[in-house]
Amino acid sequence: MKAILHKRYGSPEVLEYGDVPKPEPKDDEVLIKVYATTVTSADCNVRSLVFAPKLAKFPARLYFGLKTPRFSILGTEFSGVVEKVGIDVKNFKKGDAVVGVPGLSFGAHAEYICLKGDSVVVKKPQNISFEQAASFSFGAHTSLFFLRDKAQVKKGDKVLIYGASGCLGTFAVQLAKYFGAQVTAVCSTANIDAMKDLGADTVIDYKKEDFTKRDEKYDIIYDTVGKASVSKSRKVLKDDGVYLSAYFRFADIFYSIVTGITKKRKVLLVGEAKETKEDLVFLAGLMEKGAIRSVIDKTYPLEQTAEAFRYVEEGHKKGNVVINIIQGETE
Ligand SMILES: NC(=O)c1ccc[n+]([C@@H]2O[C@H](COP(=O)([O-])OP(=O)(O)OC[C@H]3O[C@@H](n4cnc5c(N)ncnc54)[C@H](OP(=O)(O)O)[C@@H]3O)[C@@H](O)[C@H]2O)c1
Repeated sequence: MKAILHKRYGSPEVLEYGDVPKPEPKDDEVLIKVYATTVTSADCNVRSLVFAPKLAKFPARLYFGLKTPRFSILGTEFSGVVEKVGIDVKNFKKGDAVVGVPGLSFGAHAEYICLKGDSVVVKKPQNISFEQAASFSFGAHTSLFFLRDKAQVKKGDKVLIYGASGCLGTFAVQLAKYFGAQVTAVCSTANIDAMKDLGADTVIDYKKEDFTKRDEKYDIIYDTVGKASVSKSRKVLKDDGVYLSAYFRFADIFYSIVTGITKKRKVLLVGEAKETKEDLVFLAGLMEKGAIRSVIDKTYPLEQTAEAFRYVEEGHKKGNVVINIIQGETE
């Protein structure tokens, strides 16, 4: 089968479009023909071994492979169709259209993938395209983890999403609206209309205005891209408010611990989102009823995946970048 091979760490040039044997499912696995997948920030981090914080590079090597990558095919999320089912798998049958999240086990940048029947794979909602199905789980899972699990967002909360136009941000805007919050999206001029389309009540253009200078105070501030400053943002955070960051910065964590001790309140909540089947079912349900959707910036064929990585690493994509493996059947 064709796949994008990740044999060394480095810039997108290390990725090779090549052939590897088609996998064969074990008794407890399903073989899935991948229709579409994405290039996410996680794929970029692991390919280049560049992490925030920088010191994470050393423990990361232990997991991702000391000298050469442990995962020779990247790709954290996909949609596709079940082609073969192991004899112990009872919840899928040949021909089922599915959405899957190998997450940090990767493997979706290929024509086929084998996963256990009880892994994070669910039926694809029939009314959404394979492109849409491939590109919601990474960003939506992460923002669900921060907004619902870490901050317990609720109806009426005033929520500010910083970096609202990215993968995490576009889902954060929609999920916060779904939970009944009043949403302020911070993005650049080019993305203002898109944020309104996603349901944001207020949009602030970070190129023209500093959101920390407004009089408004927020229950939750969620920095999806690690570009807002915790110390400045605190000025517009309510006394019992929560500051979330998807991006680890030691300076912010240190600042938060110190102010948390001295002011007796918790300001910064960081963490690593973990995908679960239960959450994927919940999010697929939101996709099915149109409560959330994936914003797709660009699509590429599998052989141009390195080009897709280059684009993602420019840091200005809108929502998601999709790799279409089965051309013509993904829309
Ligand atoms: N903790 C976790 O579990 C977890 C999970 C997933 C990802 N992450 C981390 O979350 C971060 C974001 O991931 P992502 O996939 O959402 O990134 P992304 O989609 O690549 O983010 C791109 C977006 O960031 C916006 N942006 C860039 N500079 C900005 C600035 N100064 N102010 C406001 N917006 C700015 C861009 O908008 P403009 O073009 O308008 O600038 C663009 O739309 C990554 O660092 C990733 O490693 C953490």
